Amino acid sequence: MSAAPLSPAAPAHEQRLPMTLPRLLDKKRLGEPIVMVTAYDFPSAQAAEAAGVDVVLVGDSGAMTVLGYPSTVPVTIEEMLMLCAAVRRGLGTALLVGDLPFGSYEGSDTQAVATAQRFVKEAGCDAVKLEGAGSSIDRARAIVRAGIPVMGHVGLTPQTATALGGYRAQGRTAERALEVIEGAVSLERAGCFSLVLEAVPAAVAAEAMTRLHVPVIGIGAGAATDGQVLVFHDLLGIRDGVGARFVKRYADLLSEMVSGVSSYADDVRKRRFPTADHTYSIDPQELTRLRERLQEG
Ligand code: KIV
Repeated sequence: MSAAPLSPAAPAHEQRLPMTLPRLLDKKRLGEPIVMVTAYDFPSAQAAEAAGVDVVLVGDSGAMTVLGYPSTVPVTIEEMLMLCAAVRRGLGTALLVGDLPFGSYEGSDTQAVATAQRFVKEAGCDAVKLEGAGSSIDRARAIVRAGIPVMGHVGLTPQTATALGGYRAQGRTAERALEVIEGAVSLERAGCFSLVLEAVPAAVAAEAMTRLHVPVIGIGAGAATDGQVLVFHDLLGIRDGVGARFVKRYADLLSEMVSGVSSYADDVRKRRFPTADHTYSIDPQELTRLRERLQEG
């Protein structure tokens, strides 16, 4: 599937191959860092693609970043499918992972498989992601058996943040760290092709890495993981407020956006916009004829 290019196509010898699961594993084996970013719509997907990102996740963080919900919990399957389909249209080579929303997979293996199939059939996702260990291990196994690649997610799992004591680092005691590592190992054994490790101490992530064979993508998990993921709106500063400790901002687009819209509003109010440059003309003769016709009533 090819996306509408954001910038002129690269010369043939520079064109990138589509990211596949074996290629992702090769990157791990070769020690090449894997770059993952979230995206939620056509332009953010195009930006990720143009930047040469390896994996694009339509995270349920989109519930907050683009849909304005207070948490990831309320987002529906239909809303996620719409975001995923838009991202699909903007991608060319990156692997597309769709996040299964809260309540769409936990109930039973049958429910999990049915939801995952919608992400693949209706939105064109290459893979799905689900959160947590526990019952999610069986759900992951069932989806993988149905032929759909699954990315696991342990550590801080925002869908169940309340049960975890809020949005805070996980695995900070030996017992909790063991739970995180055991959960990751179980998800790998269930067939997950990759894992996200979120908000755990770097030393715990490093221990987990010695026991895992699939590519592990960290977010707030230090530098030992095979790759990193950040939320698009966090890294570009599109979101208001103070982000999590693990966020690094590479731009301040929200200020740019407010400044652009403010300048536009100012121009409209002061009648500086539109000018002749932004206006269509009509042949004077046609205008005269129009006026005559209007006069005729
Ligand atoms: O929803 C999301 O954006 C995520 C990433 C932070 C991994 O799950």
